Amino acid sequence: MARITASVYTSHVPAIGAALDLGKTGEPYWRKVFAGYEFSKAWLRDNTPDVIFLVYNDHATAFSLEMIPTFAIGCAAEFQPADEGWGPRPVPVVKGHPELAAHIAQSVIQDDFDLCIVNKMAVDHGLTVPLSLMCGQPQAWPCPVIPFAVNVVQYPVPSGRRCFNLGRAIRKAVESYDRPLKVQIWGTGGMSHQLQGPRAGLINREFDNTFLDRLIADPADLANMPHIDYVREAGSEGIELVMWLIARGAMSGEFDKRAPRVAHRFYHVPASNTAVGHLILENT
Ligand code: DHB
Ligand code: FE
Repeated sequence: MARITASVYTSHVPAIGAALDLGKTGEPYWRKVFAGYEFSKAWLRDNTPDVIFLVYNDHATAFSLEMIPTFAIGCAAEFQPADEGWGPRPVPVVKGHPELAAHIAQSVIQDDFDLCIVNKMAVDHGLTVPLSLMCGQPQAWPCPVIPFAVNVVQYPVPSGRRCFNLGRAIRKAVESYDRPLKVQIWGTGGMSHQLQGPRAGLINREFDNTFLDRLIADPADLANMPHIDYVREAGSEGIELVMWLIARGAMSGEFDKRAPRVAHRFYHVPASNTAVGHLILENT
């Protein structure tokens, strides 16, 4: 049977992708950001899974305001990096895992979560920047990736509780897949940031670090936080953090009420307009 071996959490700031693509990682500003991922790159080389289930949000790239799925699972064999206005990032094409994606869709939809099935989709910085942070600049990504897009852009967005429970259903789906695959689940976006309006530039270190503590130690309680608290405390784009609860819900059930092994924790301000948070949790 397949199993979820670990979960990874990281911000997805587009300027991080540009810093990598334009060879700026050695600049003092960026060095401090990338330093937080040195451990992670080595860890991923040592713990390369068979598949990454990557929870992210599309930024009106694949889905415009004409059609906004709440949850969309990428079932294609490959996904092209999107052109977000400056041309597509020069990163490898993302290879999918249509068979496991179809199995997860079957199981999760039968568990009452209505997923949108997507057979063609470009992937933006929400997905490619986390891959770059964790993998560097390889010729090919180290394994297939199932993109799982969550609407956190246009209200109404899903609640943290729904995301956490969806993660549990994804865990059940993976564990019922009849091949011995090691699967990692990544939750991306966040942490505190607001890109528009009078509060543009908002960062809340205290909220972010408490969020990390609670995500590790008591995610079932954290999942009860209403979306208005994310927006008030972490800014309008801080709502991206609900996606981290999907990944956390997919960890082994025994860790709903106690902490799993924390392999790595990193927090840094600033990167562009965003507080960068990063965690690696292992199922033991
Ligand atoms: C920034 C952060 C984001 O999450 C995003 O989608 C776009 C921009 C930023 O910090 O600039
Ligand atoms: Fe974003």
